[in-house]
Amino acid sequence: MTSPSLTDDSNSPNPLREGLRIRPVPDPAIVVIFGATGDLAARKLLPALQALAAGNFLPPAFAVLGYGRRDKDDNAFRDDVRKALEEHGQNGDSATTEGFLSQVYYQRGNLDNAADFEALGKRLKKIAAERNIAPNVLFYLSTPPEHFEPVIRNLGHTGLNQPENGWARVVIEKPFGRDLDSAHELNAVVAEHFGEEQVFRIDHYLGKENVQNILVFRYANAIFEPIWNRRYVDNVQITVAESLGMEGRGDFFDKAGVARDIMQNHLLQLLCLTAMEPPVALAGDAVRDEKVKVVRSLCRIEADDVAAQTSRGQYTSGDLNGKSVPGYLQEEEVPADSTTETYAAARVFIDNWRWSGVPFYLRAGKRMPHKITEIAIEFRQAPMHLFEETRGEEARPNALIMNIQPDEGMAVRFYSKVPGTQMRVRPVVMDFRYGSSFGVEPPDAYERLLLDALLGDSTLFTRADEVEEAWRFFTPILEAWEAAGKDGMHNYEAGTWGPDDAQRLTDQDDKQWRRL
Ligand code: BG6
Repeated sequence: MTSPSLTDDSNSPNPLREGLRIRPVPDPAIVVIFGATGDLAARKLLPALQALAAGNFLPPAFAVLGYGRRDKDDNAFRDDVRKALEEHGQNGDSATTEGFLSQVYYQRGNLDNAADFEALGKRLKKIAAERNIAPNVLFYLSTPPEHFEPVIRNLGHTGLNQPENGWARVVIEKPFGRDLDSAHELNAVVAEHFGEEQVFRIDHYLGKENVQNILVFRYANAIFEPIWNRRYVDNVQITVAESLGMEGRGDFFDKAGVARDIMQNHLLQLLCLTAMEPPVALAGDAVRDEKVKVVRSLCRIEADDVAAQTSRGQYTSGDLNGKSVPGYLQEEEVPADSTTETYAAARVFIDNWRWSGVPFYLRAGKRMPHKITEIAIEFRQAPMHLFEETRGEEARPNALIMNIQPDEGMAVRFYSKVPGTQMRVRPVVMDFRYGSSFGVEPPDAYERLLLDALLGDSTLFTRADEVEEAWRFFTPILEAWEAAGKDGMHNYEAGTWGPDDAQRLTDQDDKQWRRL
């Protein structure tokens, strides 16, 4: 059916940007990017910083210092950044871009060499003096994870973690550890040198507009919360599907797998925001306290139950959008006998008053037919006896679907009478889309998160205990999969929605995965 589109009641020409604009401007600061010549810096960090600068969200006294192993000078790095902005940036005529580039510098150095960090300290002082910037520094660790510890230690040993008369903060990219022990160890190293209020563990899903909207949707409206519990909710399905394969990241991905790469962090964050209790305030610890309680309340899936409560698979070659694509084992840098999962699904329960007995079905996969991230709340069936004979084969429960991407929005599915002389009912969908309602594209997640880190607001970042609790839940699953190797690994053709085996998880409750 054609869906009614909801409209925005405000008169603001650009509510999202306006929403950002009324925030305070951060202190003058220098952002240091470790791993400045890498892919993330080019695709996300530098374009986000430039967009913030173009939108006047940054103070005039501001600089970006790229730190990398490659030998180059400021101008050569500026050329690289210019190219990256052309390719991946959205905002900016050439004057704004050149203005931004004039604030960009480069420092060559190794990540494990203390002398190079001494040199970094001197360079920071020099730039700060030249540009009249107070000694505030945001260190962004955009390096492979094995460098996190040495960088943190070097920042600590050289005193860069505690500048005089200023602040130092550190943003740490994912993956934060690869199991409970390694995350715990990394947290300990971080805590030796930085206070928790200085640490910003990033999960870029928390910066996505519609992920933040989960909280608005739940707590700014009175109509949803009363039914947001086991009494009315039948099951919850969270899907993070991607059509991408390895895209040159085979080596990284093969050491991670989709559970470490997506589920333990992005997908779990979606679960937490969906399931958490209302926080006492919309501020750092209040929100994170509630999220952590959700993870703590997850019923553990112990080794013996892993096979029954989870499903995993690897894609084989297939057709995707009219193109034939190789299977996972034929991807570059992937060992031919790899047992790394490119698809994973789990049936989990939250043992608390709100959710006891409600299955949460989680799935994430690469090489699915298209990209889609959604949270679907399926409600219990109404007592349908009045319409039993007429509802035909299309019986589908009421559902509320939060589309995280690509079409950010919300949809509600309910029954309606089919026009005509008979009493026939059919499910229909009422849709709200960000694009059509607000008429703007939401800012990239990294823009929001970088701005928050510069403002010292950690609400959308993961706290030390939260990340460890997440690993505490996933580690037994990962260990059981590793022990089982190929046993229990199911193939699915690229361009399909994953292995048939995943059906087992919903079958146990006489439910079905949503067709996407
Ligand atoms: C990253 C993962 O964290 O998230 C990638 O490492 C994945 O494998 C990406 O493709 C997905 O992010 P987004 O924003 O495109 O959904």
